[in-house]
This record gives sequence, C-alpha cells and structure tokens, in this order.
Amino acid sequence: MQSIIDIQQLTKQYGDGHLALDNVSAQIGAGEIIALLGPNGAGKTTLISIICGLTTISTGAVSIDGYDVVRDYRRTRSMIGLVPQELMLEPFETVLGTVKLSRGLFGQKPSPAYIEKILRQLSLWERRNTQIRELSGGMKRRVLIAKALSHEPKVLFLDEPTAGVDVDMRRETWKVIKDLKKRGVTIVLTTHYIEEAEEIADRIAVINGGKILLIEEKTELIKRLGTKQLWIDINRPITKVPLSLSGLDIQIENTGMRLIYKYDASMEQVDVTSVLAALTEEGVSIIDVHTYQSSLEDIFVGLVAEEST
Ligand SMILES: Nc1ncnc2c1ncn2[C@@H]1O[C@H](COP(=O)(O)OP(=O)(O)O)[C@@H](O)[C@H]1O
Ligand SMILES: [Mg+2]
Repeated sequence: MQSIIDIQQLTKQYGDGHLALDNVSAQIGAGEIIALLGPNGAGKTTLISIICGLTTISTGAVSIDGYDVVRDYRRTRSMIGLVPQELMLEPFETVLGTVKLSRGLFGQKPSPAYIEKILRQLSLWERRNTQIRELSGGMKRRVLIAKALSHEPKVLFLDEPTAGVDVDMRRETWKVIKDLKKRGVTIVLTTHYIEEAEEIADRIAVINGGKILLIEEKTELIKRLGTKQLWIDINRPITKVPLSLSGLDIQIENTGMRLIYKYDASMEQVDVTSVLAALTEEGVSIIDVHTYQSSLEDIFVGLVAEEST
C-alpha cells in the first residue's frame, strides 16, 4: 500500500497549555478507509484539522503526497475534501448551485460532467434543483459530501459522520462511504462508535488522550487481540474438567451441562477434536457446539481499561 498522508511526530499544544496530540506518527495509505477511533476529547478533530491546514502545528510535520501541509498549504488543501461534523449549508441555495460554487472556491474549472457524476453517485441528481432547506437530514449530509468532493480531492475526511444520526441514516452513510472507496477515494473518518469502525474501516487507529494506542488492519486486530470460545453442550452434568484437558482454559457452566473453552483467535490450529474426544471418553454425549469470536467492542474496552490501570 502506497502512503498518501505521512504524519511525523506530531504534537499539538493549545494556547491554554493543553496537550491535545502527543507525538503522533502514522501513514495513511492510498485507497484505504481508515477510522480514527477514540472517545470525546481524544484529539481526533485536532488531528484532522491539522492535516487540513485549519489548525497550527506545535512540533512535527504532516505531508500529503509529498507536500508539506504548512509550506504547501494551497496545494495540499486542494487534494483534500473535508466533511465537517456540523451541517453548515446555505438554506436557499440549490443542491447543484452549492456544489458548483464549492468547486469554484477551490479554483477548479467548471466540470458539469464531473458534478453530475458525483451527484448521481450520491443519489442527489434528481434533486439537483431543490433548495437545501427542503431536503431531509440524510440528503443534507450527502450534499456536504458532494461539496467536499466537488474539487476532485484525493482524500476525503469525514469528522464524526454519524454522530447523533439515527440508525437508518447511519447505515445509508456507511453505504455511501463504501461506494466512494470503490471509486478510488481514500477515506479518513473519525468516530467514537466502535461499531462504525468495525463496519466500514480497513484499518483502525485507536486514539486516546492525544496518543495513538495502536494502528492496525481491522481483521488482524481482531485476530491478534480477540479470543474465540467454543461452547459445548452435553447431555449430563459433569463436575470436573476431564484430566486430559486440564492444560486448557475450560470452564464448566450451566450447572455442569456446558463447557466453555477459550482460545486465542490467532491460533492457527486449535485441537477441537481432542476436546470433543476427551469428553466422549468421559462417557458424555455432545448435544450442541457453537463458536463465538470476540468483537472489536470487547477488544477496545480491554485496551482502554488497560490504559487506565
Ligand atoms: N481550540 C481549542 N483550545 C483549547 N483546547 C482545545 C481546543 N480544541 C480542542 N481542545 C481540547 O483538545 C482535546 C482534544 O479535542 P478534539 O481534538 O476536539 O477531540 P475529539 O475530536 O477526539 O473529541 C480536548 O481536551 C479539547 O478540549
Ligand atoms: Mg471531534
């Protein structure tokens, strides 16, 4: 994966002395969806504001496609589309008008074909002559995305795209984001919803107290830190784990009728058959077997808890 954004030892101290970013380094790859996941106050908005050139850097550097965001501000800003958290739109402007205007503000020549393409992608083309004030909340959010894409940026930033948004609109927004990725846009989004990161991100950066705690492929993260459980329901109660299985993490539950075997999700081979064979040897029959994989939520809660001990 070729990186498009390079963040080097970035620190941000606000005027009041508050350290909002503490030595953050990261690379963001071209074409990926990366989620900056962290609680309120973690430093997510500060980080994207710096990348977009809206907030000053205390120490460190950020470059986009090799261009420094401070020295080459105009150039880097033109490579970026930003969808802010707040719905800021002109109520009396039309959909098409506002998106065209946005493109013009970035000094791009008019391109009716490109604007039509993005409005169609976002299912706004039929409503292009409608005034913004007449649109639903979901459509307004899509207009913001269209505006952010109007000047053909390489990277789209979405700051908390679904904060305070209902479930249907959240799902709709996720679909729009996934579609944009398919069309080659690199996407950086911030969220405090674990479910959101789990649903749409290729990579997840967990940020807390201005520090990046980890940055990793989502599937790797779940594999590495997650655990799996094998639940085995048996036909008669047992009181002890069979001796031949004493080395494994097995608990007896459901008044002896269920065994729960926990193992690392990263283990390539887990000897499930020997567990089942040992039980058969004990003379119990197996009624049912299930596996469970821990979610990103379980992992995240564990990480933040570890951090605070
Ligand atoms: N303009 C500012 N002046 C002083 N402190 C700020 C300013 N903006 C944000 N902060 C502080 O920096 C920290 C990170 O804020 P922010 O980047 O908005 O976090 P997030 O987006 O993850 O909720 C918070 O403690 C916040 O109060
Ligand atoms: Mg924020």
